[in-house]
Amino acid sequence: MKKENFGGRLGIIAATAGSAVGLGNLWGFPYRAGVNGGGTFVLLYILFAIALGFPVMLCEFIIGKNSNNKSVLKAFTEVKSKDNMDNSKFNISSYFAVATSFLILSFYGMIAGWSIDYLVKSINGGFGKFDVEYSSNYFEALTVSIPRSVGYHILFMVITIIVVSLGVKKGIEKISKIMMPMLIVIILILVGYGATTNGFNEAVSFLFKPSVMPSDGVQFGKVAVNAMGQAFFSLSLGSAAIMTYATYVDKKEDIVSISKQVIIADTMVALLAGLAIFPFVFSAGMKVAEGPGLIFVVLPVAFASMGYGDIIGVIFFLLVALAGFTSAISLLENISAPIVYKLNSRVKGVAIAGALVTIVGMGSQACFSFSVPFLEFIADNQLDQFDKLTAYLMPLVSFFVVIFIGYRADVDVIKSEFKNEKLAKMFLWYVRYVAPILIVTVFVSSIVGQ
Ligand code: PHE
Repeated sequence: MKKENFGGRLGIIAATAGSAVGLGNLWGFPYRAGVNGGGTFVLLYILFAIALGFPVMLCEFIIGKNSNNKSVLKAFTEVKSKDNMDNSKFNISSYFAVATSFLILSFYGMIAGWSIDYLVKSINGGFGKFDVEYSSNYFEALTVSIPRSVGYHILFMVITIIVVSLGVKKGIEKISKIMMPMLIVIILILVGYGATTNGFNEAVSFLFKPSVMPSDGVQFGKVAVNAMGQAFFSLSLGSAAIMTYATYVDKKEDIVSISKQVIIADTMVALLAGLAIFPFVFSAGMKVAEGPGLIFVVLPVAFASMGYGDIIGVIFFLLVALAGFTSAISLLENISAPIVYKLNSRVKGVAIAGALVTIVGMGSQACFSFSVPFLEFIADNQLDQFDKLTAYLMPLVSFFVVIFIGYRADVDVIKSEFKNEKLAKMFLWYVRYVAPILIVTVFVSSIVGQ
């Protein structure tokens, strides 16, 4: 099969930022900021995005870019190694990374499907009737309803499968270049509107005033672990998403600056999402610590009580669905790519991977809809279990990625990505001595803190 590539720098940034910006920013970030007390979580999240997100993303880019057109499953052995070391064991990390994406997409598709239901609802009648009770009943009814929840899940996955099967340039890149600018415009409209509501000041101080201090001990540790997990998820790290896209990047591209821009874009969107959502929540006098139901249960009630709420509701859920698509596209691309290579057919590979991940995702649905003892045993509740498991897998994969670049890859491979040798050396030092220790520290405290 002919090797596919992105058309150019703009396409790479749109697709990679499209992967990063997703439900993690619009659903995960606000609800986690809400339950973790706001300011401290936000600050730590930004720190982790810079201190870990940047080096890990760049390492993933380096590995993918040096893969010599091979599948991500063989990428580690394609990178020129130091002293001809045998790096084949590192390829196991790629298998873990692809598995991580598989688990994520299985539930991601379902949640994104809910956002389509809310989009349809907001167009069709709006949220006028939504008070707290009505809203939680609506959400509950959606999650247990097989025709609605499964129906929208399948619809979402089918569109994703079609886009990915069109190819890297004609599908992924093209759609990302259309959807990403739309997404930015929509989020700015929402923040602009939020700024006119009387909950805006409260939202700003909630998001930016540190609330939990290091002296709060265990609680601070928990906030830190959550912030790190959120940074990995939101930047699509440790999951083969970036590495796979990087295999389609031309040798001449400047991946240091691309990584920087993607990190900045993703972090900006998360902060803007907070600035769009919390003013509505505060203006309506609702609870911020609602948890995963924040955007599905609390926001519609806020929309019901505010001026132009109907239109804002449509715009908001359109935003969530769009952001979900570009991320799901990257998840499906990296799950399918190894099968596409093997079968030598993009359409077949994508269809097989897409069907498999959708079917497994239905296990999450089943957990909502039935209380079959067996299902409860294996998956009480599958969504939460997969979410927890992937929260461990992402730092684990990232750990091997930085160790590989720090200790096993030929130093010239790293130097060739930087314009200046001094910077390359600093990066290498950081990746050898700081990044792995940081990952291990937060990872161990997350297990101990359980
Ligand atoms: N970063 C995406 C989001 O924030 C989710 C994602 C994770 C996508 C891992 C690809 C790989 O929603």
